[in-house]
Amino acid sequence: MEKRKIVFASANPGKIREASEILGDGFEILSAAEAGVTEDIPETGNTLRDNSLQKASYIYEKTGMDCFADDTGLEVDILGGAPGVHTARYAGEGKDFNANISKLLFEMERAEKAGVTPMNRKARFRTSVTLIIGGEVHFFDGVMEGEIARERSGNGGFGYDPVFIPDGCDGLTAAEIPEEEKNAISHRGKSLRAMAAFLNSL
Ligand code: IMP
Repeated sequence: MEKRKIVFASANPGKIREASEILGDGFEILSAAEAGVTEDIPETGNTLRDNSLQKASYIYEKTGMDCFADDTGLEVDILGGAPGVHTARYAGEGKDFNANISKLLFEMERAEKAGVTPMNRKARFRTSVTLIIGGEVHFFDGVMEGEIARERSGNGGFGYDPVFIPDGCDGLTAAEIPEEEKNAISHRGKSLRAMAAFLNSL
């Protein structure tokens, strides 16, 4: 059977590999560059959904191909849902994950001292996926609940993983659990599996 081509509005090889594994053998995933989109794709929305829709629409308008895009944010309760849509650039345009973590721990300590909601370190990662198929738009969201550690632990994962303790992982951070275990519970895994179930039901 011929594989169905679908473009992922991403240049990140790790994400493309994860999506290929989740979508399975019926699909061939092309990166944005492989579909001929080599410029930076605009991402200027006010919400995760706006951003994923903006990225998927950009690819669809340029290529006319079936495509999907994702956008992820970390929502911290004591910070009123911040950094949210600003997660990648929390500490500045450099997207430096170490600086981002330092700012997060600093802001939480400040909020705790101010006594907003004492001892509440609950947080979640949220991924919004937008799929455009046959010109129709569909959204799939996935969430991983957890809490923010007081200090970094673990060498695995990426981004905020060293300070994110997923619920049900015995207090280990996402940087301390095997990659497959994290993918099985992660926000991105959940949203991509929901999209895969939809695509495979068509
Ligand atoms: P993006 O939308 O995938 O680019 O992610 C936005 C921001 O969230 C980046 O700063 C990532 O480092 C961070 N992020 C996304 N997913 C994860 C994760 O699974 N663990 C830790 N950080 C993540």
